[in-house]
Amino acid sequence: MIGVFDSGFGGLTIHHALINALPGKDFVYLGDNKNAPYGTRPPIDVLTLTCAGLETLFAQGCTLVVVACNTASVVALRWIQQQWLPARLKQDGIRRNILGIVVPTIEAATGLRWHEENKDVANDTHNSTIAVFATARTVETGTYPFEIRKRRPDIKVVQQACPDLASAIEAGAPRTEIRKMIGHYVAQLNGQLNNKKPDSVILGCTHYPLVADIFAEALPPDVAIIHQPQATAAALKDYIATHPEYVMSENAHHVFLSTGFSAEALPLIEKFWGGKIIFQNI
Ligand code: DGL
Repeated sequence: MIGVFDSGFGGLTIHHALINALPGKDFVYLGDNKNAPYGTRPPIDVLTLTCAGLETLFAQGCTLVVVACNTASVVALRWIQQQWLPARLKQDGIRRNILGIVVPTIEAATGLRWHEENKDVANDTHNSTIAVFATARTVETGTYPFEIRKRRPDIKVVQQACPDLASAIEAGAPRTEIRKMIGHYVAQLNGQLNNKKPDSVILGCTHYPLVADIFAEALPPDVAIIHQPQATAAALKDYIATHPEYVMSENAHHVFLSTGFSAEALPLIEKFWGGKIIFQNI
C-alpha cells in the first residue's frame, strides 16, 4: 500500500498524478486538514504533525509513503529519513520508506538526477532564472534555491512567498479572490526581478496546481511551469521499479482519510480530480 500525506486537500494534485502513473496500485491518502495550514506553523509543529500523519498511514499498512506537502518535505523529511525511520524500524522490525517532493522537483528544474553532475547541462544557460512560489515556511528554509544552485550555479533562483494562498484555496475562496492574490504575488516577484521575466516557475506548494491556470494567466505567456505532480509521479514509478518490495498490494483500491474534513475546497478538488471523492474522518 502506498501512502500519500499532505497538510490538507492540496496533496490530491500529487495523488492524482501518482494514481495515473501507477493505476493498479493501492493508495491511502491522508490530509491533515484539522492542522492545516502547515506553511505558517513553527518547524517543530510541522515535524510532530508529519510524524503523526506517517504513523496513521503505517497503521493503515503503508510501507511506502510520499510526503506530498512541500512544507513538510523541506522542514521535516531529512530528519525523518535519517533519524526517525531507523528508530521506527527498531521498534517493530517493519522496513518502510518515505519519499518527498523536493528531489523530483529539483531534478525537473535542473535537468540533472539528484546525484548527477553533468558539465554539459551545467553549461546550458537557457534556463537562467527560476522563480519559486511557495508557503512562507518553505521559502524561509531556502531549500529550493540551495539545492538548485548546488547543482546548477548558472541558474538564478528567486523565491516568492504566498502566505495566505494555500489556506484561501483550502477554504474554497472564489476564483476572483484567488486571482487577486496571485496577481499580487506575481507583482511582488516582478519587483524582485526588476520586471525581468523568469524562464520558468516552480509552483512549490501542493495547492497551487489547482489554480495553475490563474498563475499562467498572471505570468508572461512563455514562462514554463514546472509541474510537481508529474515530476513526483515519474520519480515514484522509477523508485518502485527498483524497490518493488515496498509495494505489494495491487487491487487499485483507493482510501481517502482526513483528520478534520471540511467541505469548502471539495468542489475545486473534485473538478480537478474528475469525480467524487469520499473522505473518512479519522
Ligand atoms: N501542503 C502545503 C505545501 O505544499 C501547503 C498548505 C499548507 O500550508 O499547509 O507546502
